[in-house]
Amino acid sequence: MAPELYKHIARPILAAILPAETAQRLALYTLRAGPLWKAAAGQPRPDDPRLAVEWCGIRLRNPVGLAAGLDKDCRLLPSLARLGFGYLVAGTVTLLPRAGNRKPRVFLDRSGESLVNALGFPGRGLAAAARELARARGKTGDTPIVVSIAGTSAEDVSRCHRTLEPLVDAVEVNISSPNTAGLRIFHEASVLSDLLGAVNEGRSKPLLVKLPPYPEADGGEEAVLSLARACRAAGVDGLTVANSRPVEDDRLAVGKGGLSGRPIYSRMLDLARDVRREVGPGIAVNACGGIFTGRHAREALDAGADTAQIYTGMVYRGPSAARRIKAEMLETAAAAATGSSRPLAGRG
Ligand SMILES: Cc1cc2nc3c(=O)[nH]c(=O)nc-3n(C[C@H](O)[C@H](O)[C@H](O)COP(=O)(O)O)c2cc1C
Repeated sequence: MAPELYKHIARPILAAILPAETAQRLALYTLRAGPLWKAAAGQPRPDDPRLAVEWCGIRLRNPVGLAAGLDKDCRLLPSLARLGFGYLVAGTVTLLPRAGNRKPRVFLDRSGESLVNALGFPGRGLAAAARELARARGKTGDTPIVVSIAGTSAEDVSRCHRTLEPLVDAVEVNISSPNTAGLRIFHEASVLSDLLGAVNEGRSKPLLVKLPPYPEADGGEEAVLSLARACRAAGVDGLTVANSRPVEDDRLAVGKGGLSGRPIYSRMLDLARDVRREVGPGIAVNACGGIFTGRHAREALDAGADTAQIYTGMVYRGPSAARRIKAEMLETAAAAATGSSRPLAGRG
């Protein structure tokens, strides 16, 4: 779909007539209707080789990833793989099916290009996700698939890991959703180390951990960085920084949720920079939070990230978001560094 058509016609109509969650469901339904989506998304185009990046031992054709949460049940991967992302994160998948929190649980704040959600992991559970991932194999071209998993005990998370790892290229453990209170036990570095020890038994593919964000104001940084250190000590391959920011919001039925989009960008950048300094060069860092443009992605890579993941940016910019971010990355690099031999993606 042409970006302007999405921005000026489809998105305002959907937002005006439908609650945010219903509008999103409709968009996701369109994604499931494969032939319709193929027509709208157009032919997959090769990426400029300057965007390629080595990441967790995998060669990505570009550093723009789709963040976890859009395709919770792993049902849309063949369609999403046509949108030009360097990789896709499906899930978050939990052991058992979950209804999630009470509604309303999603609001768009268009003036600030942000979103607040309190979904609480609605999903069909591990067995259904495994079936969908098996079905998607061979249908996502050269787009690597990461699956995000979560649980409130090391045993639950390890079961998800054991079942899903053979079906994907990498697994991301989500310890940071603000909408599931039980995950917070893993914000204690020693408890996280035990969890990672359990997951490490028998793992054979790259493992990522998605960290909680820095708070809005200064303070609390050390607690997040201690988790990054625990991950490095456990041999984790990559860190995704970070999840949405916990906020209180009376519009949500449960009164609190996670803020995403533009307002969380600058603190995310601080975190990406600090995590890179803390863990050194051997671990991939995926910047995630408020990345909307190629300039944002470029700044995140300059701060030390290897890739830039987006979610809310795609809600606002539409299905062409990844393609546009890549084009903007190439444009800003060309404008800033004529004659420079510096690579566009990765840490060079
Ligand atoms: C509606 C919604 C659902 C989300 N669900 C998940 C999820 O299931 N697992 C997860 O790790 N992150 C989830 N996230 C967080 C995003 O992956 C991302 O970390 C966060 O939104 C910040 O990035 P953004 O500003 O680009 O959206 C969700 C975000 C939104 C807005």
